[in-house]
Parts: sequence; structure tokens; C-alpha cells
Amino acid sequence: MSAPIRIGVFDSGIGGLSVLRHLITELPEVHYIYLGDTARVPYGNKSVATIAHYAAQSATFLRSKGVDMIVVACNTVSSAALDIVEAIAHVPVVGMIEPAARAALELTRTRRIGVIGTRATIESDAYTLALYTHGGSERLTVVQHACPLLVALAEEGWLAHPATLAIIEEYLRPLLDETVDTIILGCTHFPLLADAIGQVAPVTLVDPGYWATRHVQRMLGSHATSEHRLPRTARVEYYVTDVPNNFAAVARQFLGFDIGQPHRLSLEEITPIVTQ
Ligand code: DGL
Repeated sequence: MSAPIRIGVFDSGIGGLSVLRHLITELPEVHYIYLGDTARVPYGNKSVATIAHYAAQSATFLRSKGVDMIVVACNTVSSAALDIVEAIAHVPVVGMIEPAARAALELTRTRRIGVIGTRATIESDAYTLALYTHGGSERLTVVQHACPLLVALAEEGWLAHPATLAIIEEYLRPLLDETVDTIILGCTHFPLLADAIGQVAPVTLVDPGYWATRHVQRMLGSHATSEHRLPRTARVEYYVTDVPNNFAAVARQFLGFDIGQPHRLSLEEITPIVTQ
């Protein structure tokens, strides 16, 4: 029997567990190594230079673990620093942007697409660029808006709180004014708020983690599972750069089950950047 494929998955923190959830549901036979930079999260309000530096360190760490592929389970890193990760990884790299943009283009009926994400993701224009690149020559409208408060609300577990609905309404107004029929949830935290977002905006919602997983499946030549159940047996090693006191509860919310005690890495352990 051949050794299982090893996929490295990293995020600025805990949010990438919403992507890992799709991966282990669809590809339970893979061995995953998850790294969350919980000591330095959030990345969404940092500069491109800082995000790129942190992403390079995470990619270097995963490379040292001998992974066969890296999934950048963070929209902010995928927007701002995918090229740096690709340069370091020496293995195929899958980000969130391309698969989600292509899915949105297939799902929209009116070719009016909204994108929400962190400030860094929106300011990078990465989704808009991908949509226009793959969108063909027919008229396409893209409206994007940064929604930084939603990150904290998702971590707080305020998934259906009236305050959350009010903030979503405020954030989505520019998208709804432009009558988008599809919204890309361009942040790892937003799929947790999909019900609340759907209540405010009854449109097609695109979860990048799901579509990135479908892309990984195609790359591995694997077929969609008919099970769609979280397997209890998936093999995952969890690494974090800090264990905040609400870690276990937030992780359970994003992943759907307890992850136990993660390996704690000091920032020094992920500092050396190997480019050769
Ligand atoms: N994981 C980030 C993303 O998907 C959200 C949290 C952060 O700002 O670091 O954009």
C-alpha cells in the first residue's frame, strides 16, 4: 500500500479550519498538516509586505514537513501573497481565489457578482482581477466590499445575533444596490455566517473553501464522495503559534469537532525562510 498523500494547509489562524472541514469531508484518506498562525492573526488588516513575510514562513514550515501539496486556506494570503508561497513551496499550491472566481462565474445568471472579504483581500483586487480574467467578453459587473467586523462576530459565535444581522445589512448595502445575484464569501470566517448573510441577501453564496477542495480533488484525480459526512478518522496534525484561551471552542465551531491539544510552535521555529 502506498503512503497517503500529505497536504499542508495554512491560515492566519483558526478560520482555515472551515476549509480543512471541506477537505477532510471530501478527501478523508489524505494526511493533513494544518498550521494556524494564531499568535499573529488577524492578517486582514496588515500590509502586503507583512502578510507575504508571514506566509513565506508558513510555507517554509510546511515544506519542511515534506508535504505533496499546499492549500492556502486563507483568502487574505491567497490574495496578497500566493506567488510567494508558490515560489517557496516546490509543490503544487492551491489558493482560494481562482476556484471561487470560476465557480461564481458559472453560478451567476445576471453576471453581477459581489465579493466580500477582509480589507487586505478587497484592497488587493485579487477576486475582481480573477473574475474579469476568466469572465469572457460579455458585460460583467463586480462589486466588492470589506467586512472586517464579521471576522470577530464569527469567532464570538454571534452567528444569528440581531447585531450581526444589522452589521451584515450595512455591509451588503452597496452589493444589493447593484443587484448582485451571487456573492463570494471571500474570508474563511464568512461561511459560518452564511445563514445570516442569506437572510439579508437571498442570492447564491460561494464558499471558496468548498470550491478549492473540488479543485484539489480534480488535481488528485479523486471523485466527489457521496458521503458528505465528517469522517472521525481523518489524520490531521495541528500546529499553532499560540493557544488562545478560547481556542478549543472556536476551533470546534469552525471544524465541527474537537481537535484536542494542537502542537504549539514558537515563532522562532517558523522564522527561517528557505528559498532554494
Ligand atoms: N483567514 C482570514 C481570511 O480568510 C481572515 C482572518 C484574518 O484577517 O487573518 O481572509
